[in-house]
Amino acid sequence: MEEQGKRSHVVVLTYPAQGHINPLLQFTKRLAAKGLRATFATTPYTILSIRSTTIGLEPISDGFDEGGFSLAPSTEAYLESFKTAGSKTLSDLVQKFIHTEDPVTCIVYDSLLPWAMDVARKFGIYSALLLTVSASVSSLFWHIHRGQLSFPVKLEEDDQPLTVPGIPPIRHGELPTFLARPEDQSAYLSVIMGMYATLDQHDFVFCNSSEELEIESVKAMSGQWPLVMVGPLIPLAYSSSHQSEEDTAYGANLWDPSNEPYLQWLDQREPNSVIYVSFGSMAKIPQAQVEEFASGLKLTNKPFLWVLKDYPKDKLPVGCLGSGGETFRRGLVVEWCNQLEVLAHRAVGCFFTHCGWNSTLEGISLGVPMVGAPIWSDQPMNAKFVDEVLGLGVRAKRDEAGILTAREIERCVHEVMDGERSDEFRANASNWAERAKGSVSKGGSSDRNIEEFIAKLVKRGR
Ligand code: UDX
Repeated sequence: MEEQGKRSHVVVLTYPAQGHINPLLQFTKRLAAKGLRATFATTPYTILSIRSTTIGLEPISDGFDEGGFSLAPSTEAYLESFKTAGSKTLSDLVQKFIHTEDPVTCIVYDSLLPWAMDVARKFGIYSALLLTVSASVSSLFWHIHRGQLSFPVKLEEDDQPLTVPGIPPIRHGELPTFLARPEDQSAYLSVIMGMYATLDQHDFVFCNSSEELEIESVKAMSGQWPLVMVGPLIPLAYSSSHQSEEDTAYGANLWDPSNEPYLQWLDQREPNSVIYVSFGSMAKIPQAQVEEFASGLKLTNKPFLWVLKDYPKDKLPVGCLGSGGETFRRGLVVEWCNQLEVLAHRAVGCFFTHCGWNSTLEGISLGVPMVGAPIWSDQPMNAKFVDEVLGLGVRAKRDEAGILTAREIERCVHEVMDGERSDEFRANASNWAERAKGSVSKGGSSDRNIEEFIAKLVKRGR
């Protein structure tokens, strides 16, 4: 038991991108639900978009307090500035609580902000890194760091597949783009490689996935570096029987959900009839690809809900957008939505996704078969996982110019929703959803791992 009036206090620090805020915020809320004092820390302008009644919110400077990343001259400059200004404000934050009832006992930080470990060390408190990618992707980077794979990884069309323990043979086009084309993303890559070089120095390394979902990679990594699986970190109302007001949404939207009545629109569709199309928060879809999507979705003859962020409406192909008549009944285009509510809706029968790791976990947890159309970063590996490991759908193939053609879009949707394997995809989807729910429900593997972490904090009495 903790000393009367004192609780373990964990500060959770996130990188200010939607795909990072969501899982780290969710982790903060889980700690609070288990009786800890939990404080979520991110940049001042990001804090404004976060709602919660159960956790504390504190700003941490990235050095661009009036607008963040968009004000930085380059990604390198942004990451460097965040490290300098963030280390100072994070130290000030820990200092602020030192003589209070709840001094900070642990800092949990995003894997893009590994410098937070030095702040934890300075104060003699626990340090915990949270990986926002899968265990398989982490394992791949770890093998490169250990020199067990050469870098950059050259894997041409005709080459033998790459073998990495715990992962099915990796072929050309399936590697994380940071590894296949390091020159494209050198700033992020150097932070990521630096982070893997320190993996054995953090007190805890958490991963947003579960032992059940990634059993083979977890086994392969446990001989090298044990990841503590704590996911899927999605709001509990969508993945377990435990529910409270806090658990029904992530509680952070960098963009406001559309005013279009998309949920009512879904209410009027048949079960499993709608294609939900979304490419996450970061991808910019070129005009030529938007045109192909519009034609491909039309070819499917199915209703669709399509998230198209930051896209000028007047450039949309004719017939895509409307507020009545035939086009409106067939397809609805919105700028942003509550993706969890959409995926949980009975009308949605296929998730056409870029396979960002959060979207992938959400599709799995809500039991929706998927078409994977990866764009960059870890997404090609996630699409492979959905297709080859979980058997939840198919991966779309781009043409030589890198475009997903209308025919390919139609083919993939057909295969997932009506093809020979569609029943198998639906059955696998509901099985994996059950397992994902089991991991985070009371007594499940991820829930137990979080409890064990808390027990260690409490035992150390800080
Ligand atoms: C990126 C990477 O793609 C991902 O693989 C990495 O692990 C984290 O950073 P992003 O591209 O934004 O993230 O994709 P994703 O990881 O899927 O996160 C997007 C989040 O935005 C999801 O949680 C999703 O629910 C949410 N979302 C998306 C909405 O709430 N509404 C929308 O309309 C679209």
